[in-house]
Formats: sequence, structure tokens, C-alpha cells
Amino acid sequence: MNLQNKMKRITLFFIISGFLIWGCGPQQPVTIDAYNYQIVKHDTFQQAAVSSAHPLASEVGRLILEQGGTAMDAAIAVQYALAVVYPNAGNIGGGGFMVVHTKEGQSYTIDYREKAPGLAHRDMYLDSLGNADLTQSQNGHLAAGVPGSVAGMELAYNKFGTMDFKKLIQPAIDLAEKGFAITEGEANGLNRTKDDFVRYNTQIPAFVKDQPWKANDTLIQTDLANTLKRIQQNGAKGFYEGETARLIVEEMKRGGGIISEQDLKGYVAQERAPIVFDYKGYEIITMGLPSSGGLVLQQMMEMIKPYPIAQYGFQSKEAINLMVEVERRAYADRTEYMGDPDFVDVPVAELIDTNYIRSRMLDFVPLQPSKSEDIKAGLVKEKEETTHFSIIDKDGNMVSLTTTINGAYGSRVVVGGAGFILNNEMDDFSAKPGVPNKFGLLGTEANSIAPGKRMLSAMSPTIVKKDGKPYAVVGTPGGSTIITSVFQTLLNLLEFDMSAFDAVNKPKFHHQWKPDVIYIEKNFDPQTRKDVETLGYIFEERRNIGRTEVLLIRNGVIEAVGDWRGDDSVAGM
Ligand code: DON
Repeated sequence: MNLQNKMKRITLFFIISGFLIWGCGPQQPVTIDAYNYQIVKHDTFQQAAVSSAHPLASEVGRLILEQGGTAMDAAIAVQYALAVVYPNAGNIGGGGFMVVHTKEGQSYTIDYREKAPGLAHRDMYLDSLGNADLTQSQNGHLAAGVPGSVAGMELAYNKFGTMDFKKLIQPAIDLAEKGFAITEGEANGLNRTKDDFVRYNTQIPAFVKDQPWKANDTLIQTDLANTLKRIQQNGAKGFYEGETARLIVEEMKRGGGIISEQDLKGYVAQERAPIVFDYKGYEIITMGLPSSGGLVLQQMMEMIKPYPIAQYGFQSKEAINLMVEVERRAYADRTEYMGDPDFVDVPVAELIDTNYIRSRMLDFVPLQPSKSEDIKAGLVKEKEETTHFSIIDKDGNMVSLTTTINGAYGSRVVVGGAGFILNNEMDDFSAKPGVPNKFGLLGTEANSIAPGKRMLSAMSPTIVKKDGKPYAVVGTPGGSTIITSVFQTLLNLLEFDMSAFDAVNKPKFHHQWKPDVIYIEKNFDPQTRKDVETLGYIFEERRNIGRTEVLLIRNGVIEAVGDWRGDDSVAGM
């Protein structure tokens, strides 16, 4: 059916056509073998490293670093490469958050979160009876917010870029145009999503073919390559205006969506003040609103600070009890108070005030579970597929970046003729504030839908410094579990003194206030579970929690880890 996918692979690898040699002096042509690549889960590097959700994207990052690009240059190249090789979550049709720490010691964050379209309104997902119809906020054209990724990368480039932008996006163009071998995980994902891709698209996208996908099949994305070329030529205008914008608006008209030409033209990415706080001598640098990630993380770290958790021991019942109670309280606050700061007044200072933090834990009785209904009301609601990458360069610049189209393959809508998947980020708003949705979850007023508003996120890209020097770059996908995954990873590193490998790969747990259960991964220690159950906690096994990408610098060596939970892979030098 799809001619591209019937094409036999002609060569075993391709040469990325000169993208790194323009203007860089006499250098060897740079090659990426897009068909024979290895997933590298764990390695150490002396100078620079990348950990991302896909080996080809990590390799693109490594090549940029090798050519003298900074971590920020590499991050832009990796964001675009992931949009090609990891359509599950990598994107130009979504948004994200970038945390940067420069070698000069400055911290910055860029918010390129999607926005509600101008025609969006608070009750847009309610049916005539006033019931929330979440199929509409989760799938199809109406689920898409105005994408932010291309504007975000342009803002990042204008602020930090040192290499020619054309070279940073060229690897993505080559991977889209010439194709690459997909992993088994991607093949399974595309097969699982085939019916939705057919249902929600008026033109059959490159992700659909007659026979099931298998590992090592070639994926060629010609339309996406052309869209990337327009961005290469015209920058963000190549996306938000002209041909690409026209294709998006036409797609909206065909599918009953509401993103308009003005929405696209009017989208701006924002620089925001980073959240910076001390945790027992470590400096934690993370993302503020409209992601709740940094604020909730800070609340949890502040609540836990007075307790000797290292002495309790990793996943001891004392440690789990304390962490769950801290999570319960912080997630309740998230639900109640947090939303886009451009639209609602979030009492940020109060939420992290020392006296407030202390008061939150006054009713904490060690080894006793409290009840979520006794803790302030509200709820979180997230779907799951996002991606994170971490980069350190040889000068000590660091980037921690989490980007998403929300669910796996987003809204499942591929913009006809433009070849990229639109997000379903509208589902991160509360479709019906204050009323339980069909999963029994509550929404909040602070995060209700309004035109131009950004939906609340949990993404928590984070950087850690110790003694003023780079120490760790951490982040993960995982919807509502993002913040607790980063929290656990930080405690594993800073309190339990684990290697990056263990910090990432040990089993995780998660509590989000409601429902009042501790979610655990399948490999969670059964004896620990029994011990904590005797305290009165309820456990529920769920699929993997997060896919955490950690770079850790100890004794001048970078330990790089890609999570075992996916195709995550590291590269470096
Ligand atoms: O912004 C958020 O918090 C969600 N849209 C993230 C979704 C996510 O992490 C899915 N990943 N597995």
C-alpha cells in the first residue's frame, strides 16, 4: 500500500550529507548508520554525554558535541531527530520544557508548552447532558493544542545556538527522507496504533502499512522531511506560517479541529524563571509553572529534608511511608492550586514557604498511613507518552529537556501533507472542573480550559549541582508519575548514594494522592510490599514507571544511563 515501505533497503547506511562539514573546516564526513545501530544502556564518558529515548537521536547529539557544538546545540538537534525516529513521543507537533545550565553558571528555562486554541472554551468536552466526553480530549483533531516545539527550539537557538541551525536540523531531515530501521518497540507501538491512525486521518500516514511492522523495517517520512526543510529554510515561520500552517489549518477543517492560522502565527515560546533550591548542599535547578513538576518536586524535597531518610535505607518501610505521605500532600496541592500562571494566580511563594511546608507534615505520624480524603481535595489526570533527554558537553553546559505530544502518538492525527503527529495535550486540562470524570478523577478550576491558556504539566526536567559544579541531569516521561520518578531518582543519588545505573533501574513506586494507592512496578520487592501493607497501605501493580535518563558526574567521569524500560540509549565521548 505505502510504496515507501515496500522499497527495498538499498544501502546499509547513509552518509549524513555534509551537515556537519559546512563551515567547520576540513573534517571527515560524518556518518550515522541508521540501520545497524546498538542500544547502549550504560557507559562512562570523560567529556560529554547524551541519554535519550532512541539510539539514533543520542548519536545525533553525540555528533553535534563532537563537532564542537554545545549541549544546547545538541539538544536542538536531538529534539528534531526524536521527532523523526521516535514518533511515539518525539515531536514537532507537541511541546515541552527545557532547563539549561551554562558553563558560566547561569540557569534558564524555556516553556514551549502547547496552548489552547482561540476557539477553545471551558466546556468544550461536555456533551448536551453536561458529561465530559474524554474521547474528544484524547483522540482526534479537537484534542490538539497549538504546538510549541518549533518555537521553543527557535527561542533556544536564538539564545544559545553556536552552530549553523541548518546543520542542527539536517540529521533529522536525512533520517526522515532516507529512512531508518525501526526498533521492535516502535514496531509494536505502530501496530498497536494502526486502527487509530486509520480512524483519525483522512490521508493514510507513513505510519500505516498493510503488513504488520517488524523490527528493522525501514520508516521513510517524506512529508515530514519536507516540513523539516521548510523549518530549515525559514525557521519557526516555516512551521507557523506559509505552507506548513496552511496544511495544519486544512487538516483541522477536514477533521473538525479548531486550530486556526491566527493561533499558529500567535504562538510564542516563553523564557521563564527557573526554580532553584537547596537540598542538603545540592543545588537543584528545575522547571516552574506551567509545569507543576518543579514546584511539586521542591515541595516534596523540602518536606523530606528534616528526616534522616538515608538512615532509614532504600525502600525500607520507613522510607516508603515517608515518601508516600510527602507525595500525597504535594499532589493534593498540585490539584488544588496549580495552573498556567499567565491565567491564574498560583500561590507559589506560599506553597514553598518553610512554615507552610512544616505545617503540611504536622499530621504525619511515622509508620502510619494518612487518608487522602483527609488531605486537601483535588486530583491529577495525566496520560502517558512523553520523552526526556539529558545532555552534558565538555565545557559543563547542561540541558535537561522533556517534550511530549501527551499520549503515545498524541492525538493520532497526522497533518496531511506535512507528516507530523499532533499532540492530544488538551487532555491535560480539566475537562470538567470540580466534577469526577469517567475514571473517578476530579478536575480543578485553576486548570480549566481557556483560549490561549497552557494546560498544566507534570514534566520535571532537572539539573543538580554540587559544590557549584555540574553533578547530575535527570528527567523522565510518565504523566503523573514524572514528578515522583524524578523525586525517587534524586533521593537514590543524593541520599542513598547509588550509581546512576541503580538510581534509574531499581523498581519504582508512586502515590498521587488520589486514588489512595501506592502504585508499584512488577519487579517491586514482594517482602517490602508485605511489610508496608501491614502498615495499612494498599498497593497496585502497574506497568513501568517512567523512563529516566540520567547523567551523573562523579570524580570527573560522566556515568550515562538509558532506562531499561525502553529503547533508551546513551552516547558520548
Ligand atoms: O505534560 C504532562 O505532564 C503530560 N502531558 C506528560 C505525558 C507523559 O509524560 C506521557 N509519558 N509517558
